[in-house]
Amino acid sequence: MKILVTGGAGFIGSHVTKQLLDQSHGVVVYDNLSRGFKKLVDERAEFVLGDLSEKEKLTEALKNIDAIIHMAALIIVPESVEKPDLYWENNVVGSKILLEAMREAGVKKLIFSSSACVYGEPDKLPITEESVIKKAANPYGQTKIEMEKLIEKEHENSGLNAVILRYFNPYGPNELHSPETHAIPNFILSTLNRKPIPLYWNGEQIRDFIYVEDLASAHTAVLSLGGLNIFNVGTGFGTKVIDVVKKIFEIVGYSVPIKNLGERVGDAPSLYTAAEKIKNAISWQSKTTLDQGLEKTIKFFKTF
Ligand SMILES: NC(=O)c1ccc[n+]([C@@H]2O[C@H](COP(=O)([O-])OP(=O)(O)OC[C@H]3O[C@@H](n4cnc5c(N)ncnc54)[C@H](O)[C@@H]3O)[C@@H](O)[C@H]2O)c1
Repeated sequence: MKILVTGGAGFIGSHVTKQLLDQSHGVVVYDNLSRGFKKLVDERAEFVLGDLSEKEKLTEALKNIDAIIHMAALIIVPESVEKPDLYWENNVVGSKILLEAMREAGVKKLIFSSSACVYGEPDKLPITEESVIKKAANPYGQTKIEMEKLIEKEHENSGLNAVILRYFNPYGPNELHSPETHAIPNFILSTLNRKPIPLYWNGEQIRDFIYVEDLASAHTAVLSLGGLNIFNVGTGFGTKVIDVVKKIFEIVGYSVPIKNLGERVGDAPSLYTAAEKIKNAISWQSKTTLDQGLEKTIKFFKTF
């Protein structure tokens, strides 16, 4: 297949692009490099420097494309609180333009990067795809809810085949957000730089950490599906944040001090998915253990 990956110069998109190419798909990466890096894009991919708002450029890039993996978005939660309009414009309006361009170009397949944040603080664990979608805790999360609605509408109105993947907590090589608000890269960088690790709730929170290469493989595995499908993508079990920190110390062979930042309003104590739906539908499940994933991630940050 020939696949266009929006946001393919970013953390997760760079892995998805590589795996598609390894499986002999043709790939066009479409990215404005506002947050991504050209050097993360596999040299075998065609690269188009473009923004989701540039409909003509998108239309041109969509020629002969069979499917789109739509990962381009702004993703930094605190920034979305400061600049909700920017997030709405970039993520929601940008996705609307992409869907219009797809319709006009006759591209009938879309895989979309959504997030577990659409569930807010769940009433019950593990979180399943039937768990209630709540008003999001922040404007970034709300853009994911709105983008899902746009895609569902497009499926109903024009028969778009769509897969919505709700990621839990991805981590791994190439995670270079700025500022970095995610736990694992910050813990690793603090440890490697021998600085204290700032930790909320004494690290007692539970999250479902999914290694990025496993997550990327879910995108290639769902390519053949038709209709509208929604899957949670995680490991299926939760890990305490403090246990991640301890594993990092074990791997590097030393520890650094922990700076307890106390409680943080709005943090759910525990979030992890039931991993059954995607496993039953396409036999996908995560393979990488936390130890293996952390080792590869630490190696990346040591050499980057
Ligand atoms: N990283 C996570 O923890 C996480 C969790 C859940 C969902 N997601 C979703 O996964 C996707 C990828 O996340 P990531 O961590 O790789 O982010 P990232 O910031 O590393 O990559 C996003 C890429 O999109 C590009 N981009 C942003 N807006 C664009 C626009 N208007 N036009 C063209 N390109 C644009 C950026 O330049 C960047 O290369 C996002 O949609 C994100 O919301 C990420």
